Amino acid sequence: MSGEQKLTGPDLAKGVPLDGLEDDKLVVGHANGEAIVLVRQGRQFFAVGATCTHYSGPLGEGLLVDGTIRCPWHHACFDLRSGEPLRAPALNPIPCFDVSVDGGIVRVGKRKPEAKPPARTGAAPARIVIVGAGAAGNAAAETLRREGYGGELVMIGGDPALPVDRPNLSKDYLAGNAPEEWLPLRSREFYAEHRIALKLGMHVASIDVAGKRVALDDGSEESYDQLLLATGAHPVKLDLPGVKLPHVHYLRSLSNSRAIVAAAETARRAVVIGSSFIGLEVAASLRARKIEVDVVGPDAVPLAKVMGEDLGAFIRKVHEEHGVRFHLGTRPKSIDARSVTLENGEQVPADLVVIGVGVRPAVGLAERAGLKVDRGVVVDEYLETSAPGVFAAGDIARWPDPHSGERIRVEHWVVAERLGQTAARNMLGRREKFAAVPFFWTAQYDVGINYVGHAEKWDRVEIDGNFDERSAAVRFLGGGKTLALATIYRDRESLEFEREVEVRDAR
Ligand SMILES: Cc1cc2nc3c(=O)[nH]c(=O)nc-3n(C[C@H](O)[C@H](O)[C@H](O)COP(=O)(O)OP(=O)(O)OC[C@H]3O[C@@H](n4cnc5c(N)ncnc54)[C@H](O)[C@@H]3O)c2cc1C
Ligand code: FES
Repeated sequence: MSGEQKLTGPDLAKGVPLDGLEDDKLVVGHANGEAIVLVRQGRQFFAVGATCTHYSGPLGEGLLVDGTIRCPWHHACFDLRSGEPLRAPALNPIPCFDVSVDGGIVRVGKRKPEAKPPARTGAAPARIVIVGAGAAGNAAAETLRREGYGGELVMIGGDPALPVDRPNLSKDYLAGNAPEEWLPLRSREFYAEHRIALKLGMHVASIDVAGKRVALDDGSEESYDQLLLATGAHPVKLDLPGVKLPHVHYLRSLSNSRAIVAAAETARRAVVIGSSFIGLEVAASLRARKIEVDVVGPDAVPLAKVMGEDLGAFIRKVHEEHGVRFHLGTRPKSIDARSVTLENGEQVPADLVVIGVGVRPAVGLAERAGLKVDRGVVVDEYLETSAPGVFAAGDIARWPDPHSGERIRVEHWVVAERLGQTAARNMLGRREKFAAVPFFWTAQYDVGINYVGHAEKWDRVEIDGNFDERSAAVRFLGGGKTLALATIYRDRESLEFEREVEVRDAR
């Protein structure tokens, strides 16, 4: 997922005329072989790397907001002055360059040294323990160090693998387009260098809130001053005859994805049970491997509950154009070695079955510890649970969302990371309210959809553009405002909507 952008635009090392630079306009150029974005803000000039450190998105097509630049692809946000990755999903900074103005010419000079973590002042907890080494846990651990936290830091994860880029498990990696080396978010050396003690392949069995200790399943204990729970979610399991057969898979972890990749080497016909995001991404990836795919789902239109009928119908059509067969309005009844039998009586041949019928937040640990749980671990606006000093982030957290005015829990990668980042700062006493506008993306074949906002229900849908031309925006309206926006390759509009909601709801 890395790669530099092609060099385009002016040679900024040679310089560009000052009077040609408009305020708050992104100028894409290059200097000394690096793609660079130059920004003028009054008498100030900023030159930063033009390539997002997440998946190499083009920052020159991004949005400037209050001294930051936001990436058009998945809305990461960087500080223009320091290059710091302020908001997930980017974890690394972008480079910053010297800028000089001389004789009416603006020139980009040398790369500045990377900003050092700020020296921390004031009281900080001596020991922080993070339970869960996924999106939220990893983002929290990295943020603590970026914020200059110097105390002991332990991250415990049930999965033996290093934290991975989970969205890739159903997309490029499963499709055979991304090697496994791309998956870990960080190397083992990174964690060692940042003094993040990893305890992987181990489960926390219980939390002693009064004694500030967690007990692990190997009998060991870890004490803490502040605790972050980021245990994610478990796939919903089906109870059907044949569901435990070896060719039947779920998908959450790297090992699950590896097992599907291995099965796909010899499989010829797959049945995907579940027509939501994971199921459909799996279907697209298996088609990329030339496996015949049938999708089974109870809803009449896939994704309609989240994306509306029109976008759902379009996604279905795109899959059908790629040869996927749908069996909708029905459920599986049983599975055998050769087929899946449906409730409507159909028998669909399959030598590979992947089940993706949703997830349940992994709240058992929190529940047993006596924390308040209500379809998720209940947290306040600072992401602290009902137990002081215990925070929760990611798929398990249900927080008071300032945009909808409701307590919400979502299952999105970027949100999980941003929750982890805010929780980390609050463990250091920042008292930062979590106010991010929810964002997620999905990619299926040549269709990428970005979704900003949160709409569990809506009164009306407005569509602008054309799905077939891969340029469209779908607005979900309710209560007199736009609750959410789904876009197909209208990245700028998606970024602008995110900003619009931030400003609108801060009033
Ligand atoms: C295949 C796949 C594709 C996805 N694609 C997208 C996408 O394209 N876009 C998007 O927005 N979202 C996507 N998601 C959703 C996104 O990955 C999740 O919302 C996100 O990972 C949640 O982060 P988390 O930290 O809460 O949980 P996770 O990332 O699941 O991490 C939870 C961690 O907690 C650990 N754990 C659980 N219980 C314990 C315990 N008792 N002790 C120790 N460790 C424990 C687990 O082992 C794991 O390491 C996808 C999810 C999957 C599975
Ligand atoms: S490529 Fe920039 S946020 Fe993903």
